[in-house]
Amino acid sequence: MARKKIALVGAGNIGGTLALLAGMKDLGDVVLFDIAEGIPQGKALDLAQLSPVEGFDADLKGANDYADIAGSDVVIVTAGVARKPGMSRDDLLGINIKVMQSVGEGIKQHCPNAFVICITNPLDAMVWVLQQASGLPANKVVGMAGVLDSARFRHFLADEMNVSVEDVTAFVLGGHGDTMVPMVRHSTVAGIALPELIKMGWMSQEKLDSIVERTKNGGAEIVGLLKTGSAFYAPAASAILMAESYLKDKRRVLPCAAYLEGQYGVDGMYVGVPAILGANGVEKVVEIDLDATESALLASSVEAVKGLVSACKDIQAKS
Ligand code: APR
Repeated sequence: MARKKIALVGAGNIGGTLALLAGMKDLGDVVLFDIAEGIPQGKALDLAQLSPVEGFDADLKGANDYADIAGSDVVIVTAGVARKPGMSRDDLLGINIKVMQSVGEGIKQHCPNAFVICITNPLDAMVWVLQQASGLPANKVVGMAGVLDSARFRHFLADEMNVSVEDVTAFVLGGHGDTMVPMVRHSTVAGIALPELIKMGWMSQEKLDSIVERTKNGGAEIVGLLKTGSAFYAPAASAILMAESYLKDKRRVLPCAAYLEGQYGVDGMYVGVPAILGANGVEKVVEIDLDATESALLASSVEAVKGLVSACKDIQAKS
């Protein structure tokens, strides 16, 4: 059986880590694409030289021409710029909208059957622009945020309760930003829900509240520490998990930014929800019953995403 092909558009910090993980997990051949010349080629060569040490066979290639992503089964997009001091939200949107449009064109032309995972921020808006620009069906274009946000939540919870991260499940709804909704009632340790664990004395309500806040600001905390750049190991691992579920038709139930058509009362927008990822991409958006507080929090997160998308539409209309 021929190896699968994975294109990584953007060969920066996340792109390089994605290539490393795709190789180590034997997911297939990898093309690292970037507008910067030399960087994708250099990273691909470095990783190819790692492959005999780690013992995987993959063709690793760097590229500056979209023709090289032809026939990819999965495309993971990290191309773009990060917000710099002095840059307004709309300045950032203006730049990254253009990047998503060129990436979308490249995908449309060279691998229209791919499963596309967007990581570029602001995520919920960029995945929307990318889907429009690529013209791919919405079930084949998703955004990576929920796996990362829930992994942050899981780590903090496991650390606090001194149990294995493997036994902590958590999920997060809503946009990828400080309005995200970590779902306390639906997060567990070995099946025991967090409110129950509080009753059992494993953790105080105050501690849980502070973990929820820390999760919401998880990205900013790392930016504050790194100073030059944002998180890249956990974002890359999260996207690889999603790619693997698609490539192996695992049907993992993962929180991701999926295109909603009425679910959760949202229509025509990407918002973070649990979804089944399988051979057809998003096989199903999982709708759960929310209580009044959760519904209100989700509604305000959806409003924040709406604000971003309408800013994108305004910028697109002007250009
Ligand atoms: N086409 C292809 N690549 C591009 C383009 C473009 N039009 N514009 C920029 N790039 C490349 C840059 O050359 C750079 O190598 O995108 C890469 C981005 O890499 P980093 O700056 O290292 O950013 P990274 O940490 O990988 O994060 C990428 O993911 O989490 C989000 O907020 C983060 O939006 C950012 C993205």
